[in-house]
Amino acid sequence: MPLKKTNPILSKSWEDLKIHFEKISSEKIYGLFNKNPDRFKDLKIEWGNFLIDFSKNKITTKTIDLLINLSNELGLKEAINNHFKGSKINETENRSVLHTALRSEKSEEIIVDGENIIPEIHENKEKLYSFCENVINGNHKGFTGKEIKDIVNIGIGGSDLGPSMVTAALAYYSNHLKVHFASNIDGDHINEILKKLNPETTLFIIVSKTFTTQETITNANTFKKWFLSYSSKKEIPKHFVAVSSNINAVIDFGIDPKNIFPMKDWVGGRFSLWSSVGLSIALSIGPSNFEKLLNGAKDMDKHFKNSDFKKNIPVTLALISIWYNNFYNAETEAIIPYTEYLNKFPSYLQQAVMESNGKSIDRSGKSISYQTGGIIWGASGTNSQHAFFQLLHQGTKLIPIDFIGFKNSLHKNTEHHEKLMSNFIAQTEALMKGKNKLEVKEELNSKKMPLDQIEKLIPFKVFNGDRPSTSILIDSLTPHSLGSLISMYEHKIFVQGYIWNIFSYDQWGVELGKDLAKNILDEIKKNKKNKHDPSTENLIKFFKK
Ligand code: F6P
Repeated sequence: MPLKKTNPILSKSWEDLKIHFEKISSEKIYGLFNKNPDRFKDLKIEWGNFLIDFSKNKITTKTIDLLINLSNELGLKEAINNHFKGSKINETENRSVLHTALRSEKSEEIIVDGENIIPEIHENKEKLYSFCENVINGNHKGFTGKEIKDIVNIGIGGSDLGPSMVTAALAYYSNHLKVHFASNIDGDHINEILKKLNPETTLFIIVSKTFTTQETITNANTFKKWFLSYSSKKEIPKHFVAVSSNINAVIDFGIDPKNIFPMKDWVGGRFSLWSSVGLSIALSIGPSNFEKLLNGAKDMDKHFKNSDFKKNIPVTLALISIWYNNFYNAETEAIIPYTEYLNKFPSYLQQAVMESNGKSIDRSGKSISYQTGGIIWGASGTNSQHAFFQLLHQGTKLIPIDFIGFKNSLHKNTEHHEKLMSNFIAQTEALMKGKNKLEVKEELNSKKMPLDQIEKLIPFKVFNGDRPSTSILIDSLTPHSLGSLISMYEHKIFVQGYIWNIFSYDQWGVELGKDLAKNILDEIKKNKKNKHDPSTENLIKFFKK
């Protein structure tokens, strides 16, 4: 069943939400706590070792009820079932969307084009795990008989961001292998990576679903050339493997077919870290930890699929985000993880969210008259507090924030961790509560500041507060909890795309720039001349000079 074609803003529930918005938009979050002493209890969801506190948002329980009415009216439950069972919900590419199948149990059955895809998923995983074991335990030797020490993941977008984010996030669980990521076509960066490598002990993984991506193929060829300057073609199988769905192109590149880890067309790049694309992750943390990552995601899948919408974390996250995006006209959302391990998480989510939901054509092919996907940005706390939190506290924009933190630090450094997490909690309080004139006056008074100076300073030191945030507090950063966290955001993306009546799983918007770059490269290299606007023409001229 394809996804239903709807129009959220023509639904009755949307009208109800508009009326509700008029009523409550002037209410302050802080005041809502006074009105409902059970607000925290009513607006939090506990699941496994996750606590999600939605109570510091500009919502009431009624808002949630009305948003759930919207999802029911639009048929969200049926859409979720269609997604999980493999309906071709990526209609413009005629594909199923089944990253969820990659974390499914062996006993499940998911039929795509008449075939159960589960046995092959598990066979591929076994092949991947046994390859990883061999590299990790040193059985897989390089061309001079030495063990592999460095891994280079060559890929871009979804073939890079997921693996590099997870590898960094789970560094605590990593083994002796050093993993490098070559994504950008920037030759300087490639040379910096090469400086750290020894051809005898390096394994290159070329990750490209299409195996046509300019950046990846150019980088792969550069690494191959470098390798061949020390070795010979017959040694390539010991040092180059590929993850791709374009088997012929991989073989043409010179990779041994037994070193190809396949990728299916029902896995989108930005959702592919669970597939063979996660090879660099599995090498870094070992198969058993990779399995825990998959299990964490699987547990969140079950929660998403089976929980009542009222207690459903991804659904609630998505609906609140729609509330801000479409009723408060919020343009952006910030993601602030309070751990350096997750410092790549905001960039990872940027692709996942913005490539998925940055669309302005609806599922019927018509232009959309309402806002869709928001802008995702962020950085780790506390660094970001000393960088952009000024704007979050006193700027003119409404920016809902997800604070992500952990009860326990991995290295058990309690002193640091208590300071880190007190900042997390304090920021959520400060953003909501703010500081009024009287409080500022009292504070300055106590410092014995002259009254005229106090009066002058007051407007600058007032915090209006009422700035929303969601706190995501998890027991510890483990492969399992990280799997659940990522899967939680994947499902948030699905729900939003569904409600906005867009197709979340294609990315036609990235094609135009790629095509034009090819033309311009021809002009630069072959001195061809195409017609451009004066700005583009002069940029090319200046570059060539
Ligand atoms: O540029 C967009 C994109 O198609 C992403 O969706 C994808 O993750 C990335 O390029 C890499 O594609 P590939 O894995 O085919 O090299």
